[in-house]
Amino acid sequence: MAGRAVVFEDASPGRLLRVQPKLRVRLRSRLPAADQARRERGNREKCCVSSQTHIIPGAANAVHFQSMVGVSSQDRVFVLTGAGISAESGIPTFRGAGGLWRAYRVEEVGTPEAFRRDPRLVWEFYSMRRRVAAAAKPNPGHLALARLGTDLQDRLFLCTQNVDNLHEQAGSRRVIHMHGELFKSRCDTCDRPPFDDARTFEPPAKIPVCECGGRIRPHICWFGEVPFHLDQVFRALGECTVFVAVGTSGMVEPAASFVAHVRGRARTIYVGPEEPANSFAFTESHLGNAGELLPNLFCYK
Ligand code: APR
Repeated sequence: MAGRAVVFEDASPGRLLRVQPKLRVRLRSRLPAADQARRERGNREKCCVSSQTHIIPGAANAVHFQSMVGVSSQDRVFVLTGAGISAESGIPTFRGAGGLWRAYRVEEVGTPEAFRRDPRLVWEFYSMRRRVAAAAKPNPGHLALARLGTDLQDRLFLCTQNVDNLHEQAGSRRVIHMHGELFKSRCDTCDRPPFDDARTFEPPAKIPVCECGGRIRPHICWFGEVPFHLDQVFRALGECTVFVAVGTSGMVEPAASFVAHVRGRARTIYVGPEEPANSFAFTESHLGNAGELLPNLFCYK
Protein backbone atom coordinates (compact mmCIF):
# COMPACT_ATOMS: atom_id res chain seq x y z
CA MET A 1 0.00 0.00 0.00
CA ALA A 2 2.95 2.29 0.67
CA GLY A 3 2.75 5.47 -1.42
CA ARG A 4 0.14 3.96 -3.75
CA ALA A 5 -2.89 6.05 -4.57
CA VAL A 6 -6.29 4.37 -4.59
CA VAL A 7 -8.51 5.46 -7.45
CA PHE A 8 -12.20 5.55 -6.67
CA GLU A 9 -14.88 5.34 -9.29
CA ASP A 10 -17.03 8.37 -8.91
CA ALA A 11 -20.76 8.62 -9.49
CA SER A 12 -20.49 12.32 -10.38
CA PRO A 13 -19.70 13.28 -13.99
CA GLY A 14 -16.20 12.56 -15.20
CA ARG A 15 -14.44 12.71 -11.84
CA LEU A 16 -11.93 10.36 -10.37
CA LEU A 17 -11.03 10.83 -6.75
CA ARG A 18 -7.58 9.95 -5.52
CA VAL A 19 -6.60 9.52 -1.91
CA GLN A 20 -3.33 8.37 -0.49
CA PRO A 21 -3.94 5.96 2.36
CA LYS A 22 -0.37 6.16 3.62
CA LEU A 23 -0.62 9.92 3.99
CA ARG A 24 -3.87 9.67 5.91
CA VAL A 25 -2.48 7.03 8.24
CA ARG A 26 0.55 9.18 8.91
CA LEU A 27 -1.56 12.22 9.71
CA ARG A 28 -3.61 10.15 12.08
CA SER A 29 -0.58 8.74 13.84
CA ARG A 30 0.60 12.27 14.54
CA LEU A 31 -2.21 12.64 17.08
CA PRO A 32 -0.62 13.18 20.50
CA ALA A 33 -0.29 9.81 22.22
CA ALA A 34 -2.52 10.92 25.11
CA ASP A 35 -5.33 11.87 22.69
CA GLN A 36 -4.91 8.59 20.87
CA ALA A 37 -5.10 6.61 24.13
CA ARG A 38 -8.13 8.62 25.30
CA ARG A 39 -9.90 7.98 22.01
CA GLU A 40 -9.21 4.24 22.14
CA ARG A 41 -10.28 4.06 25.80
CA GLY A 42 -13.44 5.99 24.89
CA ASN A 43 -14.26 3.56 22.12
CA ARG A 44 -13.78 0.60 24.41
CA GLU A 45 -15.94 2.12 27.14
CA LYS A 46 -18.75 2.81 24.71
CA CYS A 47 -18.91 -0.88 23.83
CA CYS A 48 -20.55 -3.78 25.62
CA VAL A 49 -18.76 -7.11 25.78
CA SER A 50 -19.74 -10.05 23.59
CA SER A 51 -18.09 -13.32 22.71
CA GLN A 52 -16.81 -12.04 19.37
CA THR A 53 -13.34 -10.61 18.98
CA HIS A 54 -12.96 -7.67 16.65
CA ILE A 55 -10.08 -5.58 15.47
CA ILE A 56 -9.58 -1.87 15.16
CA PRO A 57 -7.50 -1.65 11.97
CA GLY A 58 -4.83 0.82 10.98
CA ALA A 59 -1.17 0.99 11.87
CA ALA A 60 -1.72 3.83 14.32
CA ASN A 61 -4.59 2.16 16.04
CA ALA A 62 -4.16 -1.62 16.02
CA VAL A 63 -6.07 -2.78 19.09
CA HIS A 64 -7.93 -6.07 19.61
CA PHE A 65 -10.99 -6.01 21.82
CA GLN A 66 -14.30 -7.71 22.38
CA SER A 67 -17.27 -5.62 21.58
CA MET A 68 -20.79 -5.00 20.59
CA VAL A 69 -21.85 -1.56 19.49
CA GLY A 70 -23.58 0.12 22.41
CA VAL A 71 -26.33 2.52 21.41
CA SER A 72 -27.73 4.98 23.93
CA SER A 73 -31.03 6.87 23.83
CA GLN A 74 -29.03 9.94 22.75
CA ASP A 75 -27.49 8.27 19.72
CA ARG A 76 -28.55 8.76 16.14
CA VAL A 77 -27.35 5.89 13.97
CA PHE A 78 -26.58 6.16 10.25
CA VAL A 79 -26.30 2.78 8.52
CA LEU A 80 -24.89 2.62 4.98
CA THR A 81 -25.28 -0.73 3.26
CA GLY A 82 -23.67 -2.01 0.09
CA ALA A 83 -23.83 -5.09 -2.09
CA GLY A 84 -22.25 -7.24 0.64
CA ILE A 85 -25.37 -7.25 2.78
CA SER A 86 -27.32 -8.96 0.00
CA ALA A 87 -24.53 -11.42 -0.89
CA GLU A 88 -25.83 -14.03 1.55
CA SER A 89 -29.22 -13.72 -0.15
CA GLY A 90 -27.64 -14.83 -3.43
CA ILE A 91 -27.33 -11.42 -5.13
CA PRO A 92 -23.80 -11.02 -6.52
CA THR A 93 -21.61 -8.10 -5.42
CA PHE A 94 -19.95 -5.87 -8.03
CA ARG A 95 -16.28 -6.30 -7.23
CA GLY A 96 -14.18 -9.25 -6.14
CA ALA A 97 -14.53 -12.91 -7.10
CA GLY A 98 -17.89 -13.55 -8.78
CA GLY A 99 -18.56 -9.78 -8.90
CA LEU A 100 -20.83 -8.44 -11.66
CA TRP A 101 -18.18 -6.07 -13.01
CA ARG A 102 -16.00 -9.10 -13.84
CA ALA A 103 -18.66 -10.50 -16.19
CA TYR A 104 -19.98 -7.19 -17.61
CA ARG A 105 -18.32 -3.94 -18.63
CA VAL A 106 -19.67 -0.90 -16.77
CA GLU A 107 -19.37 1.22 -19.92
CA GLU A 108 -21.65 -1.15 -21.82
CA VAL A 109 -24.46 -1.51 -19.28
CA GLY A 110 -24.09 1.04 -16.46
CA THR A 111 -23.90 4.53 -17.99
CA PRO A 112 -26.35 6.92 -19.73
CA GLU A 113 -24.17 6.69 -22.85
CA ALA A 114 -24.59 2.91 -22.88
CA PHE A 115 -28.38 3.31 -22.75
CA ARG A 116 -28.32 5.82 -25.63
CA ARG A 117 -26.07 3.53 -27.66
CA ASP A 118 -27.66 0.14 -26.97
CA PRO A 119 -30.81 0.25 -24.81
CA ARG A 120 -31.56 -3.42 -25.56
CA LEU A 121 -28.29 -4.59 -24.05
CA VAL A 122 -28.85 -2.41 -20.98
CA TRP A 123 -32.39 -3.76 -20.55
CA GLU A 124 -31.07 -7.31 -20.98
CA PHE A 125 -28.63 -6.69 -18.10
CA TYR A 126 -31.29 -5.15 -15.82
CA SER A 127 -33.78 -7.89 -16.75
CA MET A 128 -31.24 -10.45 -15.55
CA ARG A 129 -30.78 -8.45 -12.32
CA ARG A 130 -34.55 -8.18 -11.82
CA ARG A 131 -34.87 -11.96 -12.16
CA VAL A 132 -32.08 -12.63 -9.65
CA ALA A 133 -33.40 -10.08 -7.15
CA ALA A 134 -37.00 -11.29 -7.49
CA ALA A 135 -35.89 -14.77 -6.36
CA ALA A 136 -33.91 -13.47 -3.35
CA LYS A 137 -35.08 -13.37 0.25
CA PRO A 138 -33.80 -11.17 3.06
CA ASN A 139 -31.08 -12.74 5.22
CA PRO A 140 -30.42 -12.30 8.97
CA GLY A 141 -28.41 -9.12 8.24
CA HIS A 142 -31.42 -7.39 6.68
CA LEU A 143 -33.65 -8.67 9.49
CA ALA A 144 -31.27 -7.35 12.16
CA LEU A 145 -31.35 -3.86 10.63
CA ALA A 146 -35.15 -3.98 10.44
CA ARG A 147 -35.21 -4.78 14.18
CA LEU A 148 -32.79 -1.92 14.81
CA GLY A 149 -35.24 0.37 12.99
CA THR A 150 -38.08 -0.84 15.19
CA ASP A 151 -36.02 -0.13 18.30
CA LEU A 152 -34.59 3.24 17.27
CA GLN A 153 -37.47 4.52 15.13
CA ASP A 154 -36.44 7.85 13.60
CA ARG A 155 -33.02 7.69 15.28
CA LEU A 156 -31.99 5.19 12.59
CA PHE A 157 -31.24 6.46 9.09
CA LEU A 158 -30.90 3.50 6.71
CA CYS A 159 -29.21 4.41 3.45
CA THR A 160 -28.42 1.75 0.87
CA GLN A 161 -26.47 1.73 -2.35
CA ASN A 162 -28.37 -1.42 -3.25
CA VAL A 163 -31.16 -1.36 -5.76
CA ASP A 164 -32.83 -4.58 -4.52
CA ASN A 165 -35.75 -4.37 -2.09
CA LEU A 166 -34.50 -6.81 0.55
CA HIS A 167 -34.40 -4.18 3.34
CA GLU A 168 -38.08 -3.45 2.70
CA GLN A 169 -38.91 -7.17 2.49
CA ALA A 170 -37.22 -7.60 5.88
CA GLY A 171 -39.51 -4.95 7.34
CA SER A 172 -37.35 -1.80 7.24
CA ARG A 173 -39.30 1.37 6.64
CA ARG A 174 -37.86 4.61 5.29
CA VAL A 175 -35.03 3.05 3.27
CA ILE A 176 -33.08 5.61 1.28
CA HIS A 177 -32.01 4.12 -2.07
CA MET A 178 -29.29 6.49 -3.20
CA HIS A 179 -28.58 4.47 -6.38
CA GLY A 180 -32.21 3.94 -7.30
CA GLU A 181 -34.52 0.93 -7.28
CA LEU A 182 -34.39 -2.11 -9.51
CA PHE A 183 -38.16 -2.63 -9.49
CA LYS A 184 -38.92 0.89 -10.71
CA SER A 185 -38.61 2.46 -14.15
CA ARG A 186 -38.94 5.98 -15.48
CA CYS A 187 -39.07 7.84 -18.78
CA ASP A 188 -35.77 9.18 -20.09
CA THR A 189 -37.57 12.16 -21.63
CA CYS A 190 -40.63 13.41 -19.74
CA ASP A 191 -41.06 14.17 -16.04
CA ARG A 192 -43.48 11.33 -15.35
CA PRO A 193 -42.50 10.08 -11.86
CA PRO A 194 -40.75 6.71 -11.47
CA PHE A 195 -43.25 3.85 -11.34
CA ASP A 196 -43.27 0.24 -10.06
CA ASP A 197 -42.08 -2.10 -12.78
CA ALA A 198 -40.94 -5.71 -12.45
CA ARG A 199 -41.11 -6.55 -16.16
CA THR A 200 -38.19 -8.09 -18.00
CA PHE A 201 -37.22 -7.35 -21.60
CA GLU A 202 -35.15 -10.01 -23.29
CA PRO A 203 -34.27 -9.89 -26.98
CA PRO A 204 -36.11 -9.98 -29.31
CA ALA A 205 -38.65 -8.17 -27.05
CA LYS A 206 -38.96 -4.48 -27.83
CA ILE A 207 -37.82 -2.11 -25.14
CA PRO A 208 -40.63 -0.16 -23.45
CA VAL A 209 -41.66 3.26 -24.69
CA CYS A 210 -43.45 6.05 -22.81
CA GLU A 211 -46.71 7.68 -23.95
CA CYS A 212 -44.62 10.77 -24.72
CA GLY A 213 -42.49 8.75 -27.15
CA GLY A 214 -39.45 8.72 -24.83
CA ARG A 215 -37.70 5.53 -23.82
CA ILE A 216 -38.47 3.84 -20.52
CA ARG A 217 -35.28 3.16 -18.55
CA PRO A 218 -34.51 1.44 -15.24
CA HIS A 219 -34.74 3.85 -12.27
CA ILE A 220 -31.06 3.42 -11.48
CA CYS A 221 -28.30 5.94 -10.84
CA TRP A 222 -25.74 5.06 -13.49
CA PHE A 223 -22.09 6.09 -13.46
CA GLY A 224 -21.95 9.73 -14.52
CA GLU A 225 -25.31 10.53 -12.85
CA VAL A 226 -26.03 12.17 -9.52
CA PRO A 227 -27.24 9.84 -6.74
CA PHE A 228 -30.71 10.37 -5.29
CA HIS A 229 -31.73 11.99 -1.97
CA LEU A 230 -28.33 13.53 -1.24
CA ASP A 231 -29.83 16.47 0.70
CA GLN A 232 -31.49 14.08 3.14
CA VAL A 233 -28.39 11.91 3.30
CA PHE A 234 -26.03 14.76 4.19
CA ARG A 235 -28.49 16.13 6.75
CA ALA A 236 -28.56 12.71 8.44
CA LEU A 237 -24.77 12.43 8.27
CA GLY A 238 -24.55 15.80 9.99
CA GLU A 239 -26.76 14.58 12.84
CA CYS A 240 -25.47 11.05 13.41
CA THR A 241 -23.37 9.99 16.39
CA VAL A 242 -22.78 6.42 15.18
CA PHE A 243 -21.93 5.59 11.56
CA VAL A 244 -22.02 1.94 10.45
CA ALA A 245 -21.05 0.80 6.94
CA VAL A 246 -21.96 -2.76 5.99
CA GLY A 247 -20.68 -4.72 2.99
CA THR A 248 -19.40 -1.91 0.80
CA SER A 249 -15.93 -1.84 -0.73
CA GLY A 250 -15.41 1.92 -0.20
CA MET A 251 -14.57 2.34 -3.89
CA VAL A 252 -17.50 4.37 -5.18
CA GLU A 253 -18.20 8.01 -4.46
CA PRO A 254 -19.95 9.75 -2.88
CA ALA A 255 -20.75 6.92 -0.42
CA ALA A 256 -17.06 6.12 0.06
CA SER A 257 -16.54 9.57 1.61
CA PHE A 258 -19.44 9.47 4.07
CA VAL A 259 -17.21 8.01 6.76
CA ALA A 260 -14.63 10.78 6.32
CA HIS A 261 -17.48 13.29 6.57
CA VAL A 262 -18.49 12.10 10.06
CA ARG A 263 -15.12 10.95 11.33
CA GLY A 264 -13.95 12.63 14.55
CA ARG A 265 -17.56 13.47 15.46
CA ALA A 266 -19.27 10.06 15.25
CA ARG A 267 -18.11 6.52 16.02
CA THR A 268 -17.29 4.86 12.71
CA ILE A 269 -17.79 1.12 12.36
CA TYR A 270 -17.28 -1.23 9.41
CA VAL A 271 -18.92 -4.67 9.06
CA GLY A 272 -17.82 -7.07 6.31
CA PRO A 273 -15.50 -10.00 5.61
CA GLU A 274 -12.60 -7.86 4.42
CA GLU A 275 -11.39 -4.34 5.03
CA PRO A 276 -12.76 -1.76 2.59
CA ALA A 277 -10.54 0.61 0.57
CA ASN A 278 -11.37 3.43 3.01
CA SER A 279 -10.68 1.37 6.15
CA PHE A 280 -8.31 4.04 7.48
CA ALA A 281 -11.32 6.22 8.32
CA PHE A 282 -13.05 3.65 10.54
CA THR A 283 -12.38 3.33 14.25
CA GLU A 284 -13.69 -0.25 14.38
CA SER A 285 -13.87 -3.07 11.86
CA HIS A 286 -15.99 -6.12 12.59
CA LEU A 287 -14.67 -8.66 10.12
CA GLY A 288 -17.15 -11.33 9.03
CA ASN A 289 -20.36 -11.85 7.10
CA ALA A 290 -23.14 -9.34 7.73
CA GLY A 291 -25.69 -12.11 8.21
CA GLU A 292 -23.61 -13.57 11.02
CA LEU A 293 -22.42 -10.38 12.75
CA LEU A 294 -25.35 -7.96 12.51
CA PRO A 295 -27.86 -9.99 14.57
CA ASN A 296 -25.57 -9.68 17.63
CA LEU A 297 -23.85 -6.38 16.91
CA PHE A 298 -25.98 -3.80 18.69
CA CYS A 299 -26.83 -3.49 22.37
CA TYR A 300 -28.72 -0.75 24.14
CA LYS A 301 -27.29 1.32 26.98
N1 APR B 1 -21.35 -9.58 4.37
C1 APR B 1 -20.83 -8.34 4.35
N2 APR B 1 -20.04 -7.88 3.36
C2 APR B 1 -19.78 -8.71 2.34
C3 APR B 1 -20.28 -10.03 2.28
C4 APR B 1 -21.09 -10.46 3.36
N3 APR B 1 -21.61 -11.70 3.41
N4 APR B 1 -19.83 -10.60 1.14
C5 APR B 1 -19.07 -9.68 0.52
N5 APR B 1 -19.02 -8.54 1.24
C6 APR B 1 -18.31 -7.28 0.96
C7 APR B 1 -17.07 -7.42 0.11
O1 APR B 1 -15.97 -7.71 0.95
C8 APR B 1 -16.96 -6.05 -0.52
O2 APR B 1 -16.15 -5.20 0.25
O3 APR B 1 -19.17 -6.47 0.22
C9 APR B 1 -18.40 -5.52 -0.50
C10 APR B 1 -19.02 -5.36 -1.87
O4 APR B 1 -18.34 -4.38 -2.57
P1 APR B 1 -18.83 -3.90 -4.01
O5 APR B 1 -19.10 -5.08 -4.87
O6 APR B 1 -17.86 -2.90 -4.50
O7 APR B 1 -20.26 -3.23 -3.70
P2 APR B 1 -20.59 -1.75 -3.24
O8 APR B 1 -19.53 -1.17 -2.39
O9 APR B 1 -21.97 -1.78 -2.71
O10 APR B 1 -20.59 -0.99 -4.64
C11 APR B 1 -21.00 0.34 -4.69
O11 APR B 1 -20.77 0.29 -7.04
O12 APR B 1 -21.00 -0.49 -9.21
C12 APR B 1 -21.55 0.26 -8.23
O13 APR B 1 -23.73 1.04 -8.23
C13 APR B 1 -22.97 -0.07 -7.82
O14 APR B 1 -24.06 0.40 -5.69
C14 APR B 1 -22.90 -0.16 -6.30
C15 APR B 1 -21.66 0.64 -5.99
